[in-house]
Amino acid sequence: MTTHLTVTPESPKTILITGGASGIGYAFCAHMVGLGHRVVVADLRGADEAAQRLRDAGGQAIGVTADVVSETDAAAMVQAAETTFGGLDALVNNAGLFTTLTLKPFDQISNAEWMRVMEVNSMGPFNCAKAALPALRRSGRGRLINIASTVPIKGPPNMAHYVASKGAVIGFTRSLARELAKDHITVNAIAPGFTLSDGVLQTDLHQRIGDNARTVGRCIQRDQVPADLVAALAYLVSDGAAFVTGQTLAVDGGGVFL
Ligand SMILES: NC(=O)c1ccc[n+]([C@@H]2O[C@H](COP(=O)([O-])OP(=O)(O)OC[C@H]3O[C@@H](n4cnc5c(N)ncnc54)[C@H](O)[C@@H]3O)[C@@H](O)[C@H]2O)c1
Repeated sequence: MTTHLTVTPESPKTILITGGASGIGYAFCAHMVGLGHRVVVADLRGADEAAQRLRDAGGQAIGVTADVVSETDAAAMVQAAETTFGGLDALVNNAGLFTTLTLKPFDQISNAEWMRVMEVNSMGPFNCAKAALPALRRSGRGRLINIASTVPIKGPPNMAHYVASKGAVIGFTRSLARELAKDHITVNAIAPGFTLSDGVLQTDLHQRIGDNARTVGRCIQRDQVPADLVAALAYLVSDGAAFVTGQTLAVDGGGVFL
């Protein structure tokens, strides 16, 4: 008797990636277009140039200059996806303030600095999710992926605002997963470990945080790079992940076990 094995090819999706012009976000964009998906690169700066690089490499991509905390900008990036690609299937809330932050004891963080980190890292994903919701509902197979961090699990010192902001992202992910399942939208988070992104490499953050955050406590004792994260995103947007929701997937070489 002959057994016929069939594998259904992955269906191309339109994916909006905030903070997609550099760092981890750009690695996500490049991997997604490489898989045949259509990508909207949204960023404060460099979005058009990043999208051009992706098109030059043969991918389908557009750039939108947008601030994730602005309701007008969030609506515009979703509109761009719908106008150019006819809809939106996935939102990746990747934009965040991290590499530009100054490490300091919590009582030296001003209220304004705390609020700004919360605004971009926690309110930004909320704002963009609200803007994307009607389009994700229309998709019928919507995916919302929030880029969190392992720091709410580890609780490193001297970045209490950042740690709290990413803890909020994980809570938001879980709550939304329950709210949006009826709309066939899955909501998950990816929690990277300390990653040598463009932003990290342009600052001395990696030296200041040091070996402790980079490798100590990791099962796999090497630096993490953006390429380590892209397959996790590919999985979460895939058709095969339709029954996975509310999860936080740590990709950090085994630094934390969730
Ligand atoms: N690098 C790490 O070690 C690490 C670890 C865990 C989680 N993360 C998270 O991963 C994400 C990407 O990190 P990265 O290291 O690539 O950062 P990065 O600083 O290299 O890049 C961040 C990108 O987001 C954009 N951005 C910032 N504020 C924005 C705003 N208000 N609106 C639109 N775009 C905005 C920036 O212009 C930049 O292109 C962030 O959410 C970060 O918190 C990073």
